[in-house]
Amino acid sequence: MTDLTKPVELMPNLWWVGSTDNQRNLHCNPYLLFQGGSYLLFDPGSVLDAEIVLSKVRSIVPIQDIEAIILSHQDPDLCAALPLFEQAGFSGKLCCHERTAMIIQYYGVKSPYYLINQNQYQYAFKDGSSMGFLFAPYLHFPGAIMSYLPQQKALISGDLFGGISSHWELFAGPDYKEGMKAFHEVYMPSHEILKPVMEQLQYYPIEMICPQHGSVIKDSIQEHILTLKNLQCGLFLDTLRKQIKDIGGILKLCNQILKRYFALYGNEFVHQVFDASSFTVNYKEKVFIKTSIPEEDIWNELFSLIEERKGIAWLSAIASLVELLTKEYDLPLPPSFKTLVFHSQRNLDEQRSKAEAMHYKNEQLEAILRERNKKLFIDPVTQLNNQEFHKGFILEEMKRIAQEKGELAYLLLSIDNLANINLDFGSSEGDKTMLTLANLIRLEVSLETKICRLAGGVFAIHYASISKEEAIEKANNLRVKIEEEESFIIPITVSMGLYHSMELPPALWLDIDQMAQVMHQTALFRLKLAQKQGHGTLIHTSISTGTSRSAVTILVVDKPSLGRDLIQKTLERERYRVLTVSNGLEAKNLIADSRPDIIICELMIEKLGSFTLRKALLANTNTQRIPFILMSVNKNEHTVRRALSLGISYFFARPIALYELSGVVNILASQLQRKES
Ligand SMILES: [Fe+2]
Ligand SMILES: [Fe+2]
Repeated sequence: MTDLTKPVELMPNLWWVGSTDNQRNLHCNPYLLFQGGSYLLFDPGSVLDAEIVLSKVRSIVPIQDIEAIILSHQDPDLCAALPLFEQAGFSGKLCCHERTAMIIQYYGVKSPYYLINQNQYQYAFKDGSSMGFLFAPYLHFPGAIMSYLPQQKALISGDLFGGISSHWELFAGPDYKEGMKAFHEVYMPSHEILKPVMEQLQYYPIEMICPQHGSVIKDSIQEHILTLKNLQCGLFLDTLRKQIKDIGGILKLCNQILKRYFALYGNEFVHQVFDASSFTVNYKEKVFIKTSIPEEDIWNELFSLIEERKGIAWLSAIASLVELLTKEYDLPLPPSFKTLVFHSQRNLDEQRSKAEAMHYKNEQLEAILRERNKKLFIDPVTQLNNQEFHKGFILEEMKRIAQEKGELAYLLLSIDNLANINLDFGSSEGDKTMLTLANLIRLEVSLETKICRLAGGVFAIHYASISKEEAIEKANNLRVKIEEEESFIIPITVSMGLYHSMELPPALWLDIDQMAQVMHQTALFRLKLAQKQGHGTLIHTSISTGTSRSAVTILVVDKPSLGRDLIQKTLERERYRVLTVSNGLEAKNLIADSRPDIIICELMIEKLGSFTLRKALLANTNTQRIPFILMSVNKNEHTVRRALSLGISYFFARPIALYELSGVVNILASQLQRKES
């Protein structure tokens, strides 16, 4: 059992130093970090908790020895105690975004600021090691930030990942996601703003999330990120219309309310509401089993019961969810809610009539679309499914293989001499060529294999449930068959790019959109390499010539880290020879001894800076032409300008999308190999 009356060491030298006061549903969490000789305090809290927080911090370090206080944004629940910390002897810097500093001055603080946007979103500790900040604008303040500790792989996330609960616990349990959703639905502005920030986080190695509200998340980190990535939040959103019958009736919808109450108030209180009522609850599954109330009255009766037994506070706690559901399912707002302030504030009637008009329009459109769809998804030239169909189909396929952990080989194929046929014989001969090719492919592949015609002369073939080796064999056989076929007006050849699902990076397997994108983009990239190589080529790795990749040496300059290991492994998997060094000086010496073919360099390296290293390489005729790829968490206008002034045209923001990095390396490697041959 964790003793919450003392600081709790969450990870080595990272402490939770908050209060255990359980009176407020929105619990606040300050954190203290000791690293590289520096003490840093994160989001110290409000005046209500100040006494406890000060005493917990003092039990670790005198207040005057704290080097900086990091502020995720400007709200009183995390900043109001600042003057009390100054009175207690704090004389360090206030570290935040300048938009936050603008507001913080009104707390009457006197400490100097360290503006992270003027310091490349980094903070350097006394020993030279550093931590980074992630900008999360409008989540929920224009200057909001999160702090990322690379050594601990911890994210101190401010309001993001915060949760509401009446029975607070330091560590998040399985119900935490509901409380987290409840908080974000109200306090975060929109799905469109939240989603890209969560997408960025998916690439960070994170082992712990420490939010300013709610509980510390140690388990299922990716699931929590995904929950927020997919969350519809912001009350003014135009929501998607859904049908009650599709979810199995109104009682099923009420389960969403029930689940939220379990997360907010716990089992015991939920018992108090539903015991000896018309609703029967399965307390283990946290769902309604049945009710004696007629279907049309369930929605209103549920809230009358809650109001009767628990009062208006329980209604307020789920008002945002009820409002969202009434909009989504076009339900009336239950009478119990009509007294709540939010209703009168927003002209719901106006919204509803707007929604009704939209609904009617949608129905009309749907009917027209249904008629057209059949025609829309068929390519008139080849009678195969077309590009429109393919967009949806590839997503379905990704969903299927992600669920079943199945295999899929994705082959893109294009006619090399289609332009010549169109030019020499006219476009109708070009169309006939495509039709003949489509029929030929139909004959060659099994019935389950889906063939689509994409733009121009490009065809996509989805071979389900086969290994990459089998797919290569099938593709080669098909290629030979096409080349030998005599019914074309002139013999044709095809170029092919193949990608297999087993090549997908494991980090992507949670995100269907990204899986589809990587699959298609890489196959397309390989198809283009094949086209460049001349007629009748199949490329199934991202390389353009027959030369062995192990002849290409890549130097990665970065301090030892998971990020560096991932880059090394990715490139080695692509069969490059990879060397690593930890700082600029080692890099300079190694480059002089064994001239690498490509250099990938972190911006913030020790002993010799990356830009100084680049200048030294440019000054030497032996090394000035080595392609130089830069990477940094601080890719901003300033660093990009400096990089460009030194002729660095590849600059990746970290965390890097590894498939993009290997894509660029493959292009550079093939350029090098072409020069040599
Ligand atoms: Fe806030
Ligand atoms: Fe907050």
